[in-house]
Amino acid sequence: MRVLFTVGLLMTLPVAAFAQEKKEAGPVKVIELKRPEPVVYEKDIEPIFYKRCVTCHSGSVKESNFDIGAYEGLIKGGKRGPKVLVPGKSADSLLYGVMSRNEKPRMPPKGEEPVTPEELALVKLWIDQGAKAPSGLRAKPKVIVSAPPANVNPVRALAVSPDKSTVAAGRGNQIHVYDAGSGTYIRSLVDPALKGLDGKDLKAAHLSIVESMAYSPDGKYLVSGGFQEVVLWDIQTGQLRQKLSGFAHAVVAVAFSLDSKLFAVAGGEPTVEGEIKVFEVGSWNKITDVKNGHSDTVYGICFSPDNKMIATASADKFIKVWEIPSGKFVKSFEGHTHHVLDVGWTSDGKLLASAGGDNTVKVWDFEKGEQARTINAHGKQVTRLSFIGKKAEFVTCGGDGQVKFFNAQNGGNIRNFSGGADFVYAIGVSPDGTVVASGGQDGVVRVFNGATGALTRELLPPGVAPPAKK
Ligand code: HEC
Repeated sequence: MRVLFTVGLLMTLPVAAFAQEKKEAGPVKVIELKRPEPVVYEKDIEPIFYKRCVTCHSGSVKESNFDIGAYEGLIKGGKRGPKVLVPGKSADSLLYGVMSRNEKPRMPPKGEEPVTPEELALVKLWIDQGAKAPSGLRAKPKVIVSAPPANVNPVRALAVSPDKSTVAAGRGNQIHVYDAGSGTYIRSLVDPALKGLDGKDLKAAHLSIVESMAYSPDGKYLVSGGFQEVVLWDIQTGQLRQKLSGFAHAVVAVAFSLDSKLFAVAGGEPTVEGEIKVFEVGSWNKITDVKNGHSDTVYGICFSPDNKMIATASADKFIKVWEIPSGKFVKSFEGHTHHVLDVGWTSDGKLLASAGGDNTVKVWDFEKGEQARTINAHGKQVTRLSFIGKKAEFVTCGGDGQVKFFNAQNGGNIRNFSGGADFVYAIGVSPDGTVVASGGQDGVVRVFNGATGALTRELLPPGVAPPAKK
């Protein structure tokens, strides 16, 4: 399944980002809106702010100390005081002044798309009608069941930080970082050196799709894999720390060793050769390069709990284990009837579990080199598998839109999460199993309470309004 998507990445290059840079735009045209029904904040106004303003005016980024993420923030105003919004008087409201671009600071600032005359007219009408607050109906976040906006990219990679404070989501060429508890968008990770075809800043994490992500267990780094490259990000600052390139194809799997000293990269061109490399954190030296280890793309990679071996899962249907740093072959496991898409290792080193394109999870006895059991895990391919901290339990996601917890020792299905009807590509789980995140085709990241199975948050890209709620 993922093969199709790596091949298709050229089609998903961010066309919009290549559009020419805008000059400082002049005043927005003033039009009269003929509408008999009153303007409703949550229906008419909030979507405009979400689309145009909240990336710079909400969560951890509040320019000018002005919070547009909530109605309360609009009323309170920013560093220029409360005159931002004067209910009933658009002419006296700085909010209207800056959006119409007649007053400074003109908003959104230079380089961003100005608001349309229709949007401006709606905001004006809303203010003149008394800037009514949202009706309380919306206070409790509701489960989104309708389709998300068309401008949302699928989530192909996800990671939950080891301290479970943040969730990182790869959407298209972007990485969005959220507060795992409140669901607030914190930042996007940006490689400042990336340029579009027109030479302008791309404002993206990778040139093409973010295929894989992992946090280091010590909480210092996030690694992300894209086409022929990986980037290591400093978690504290969100800055790019190191970029390694020259990989054969898309990097579809990344993993850190449990001591956070090494990380492994996997991929390879479909039907040609799997790529398996291990690097040292800090020096960024390559210490292992397994050649001809698999005859097809390697989709999953993980370290043994003692950090002395790696296991790889490939489209060639094999799971193989290698010694590091020598790269010496240790043993292989065969039994899946389709691509093997991920692999994990229990913390006692005794069992491996693999996710199959054949809809099954297979559990393997490492010492004996034998299959311990097959779990008919999902209704479609099992796209990712991840062990939960030191437990003998793991979480899987699948093409059937499900997210599930299993016990590796007895194959028991512990809990299911209904992750939306769409294809799920990516999961993240905190070491204690209480924070679970899933993402897939619909572009929405769903955060669950792993202990109860309850859906706690739905995370949309910054600036994308949630679909209209009833
Ligand atoms: C790309 C980032 C960015 C976006 C997008 C953006 N702003 Fe701003 N905004 C800023 C910055 C930076 C300042 C501070 C400018 C200054 O003080 O001179 C600011 C200041 C303001 C202020 C002044 C608040 C005060 O009291 O100081 C208002 C009002 C404002 N923005 C409204 C908006 C609105 C409305 C939108 C969306 C239509 C918007 N901004 C979108 C970056 C942004």
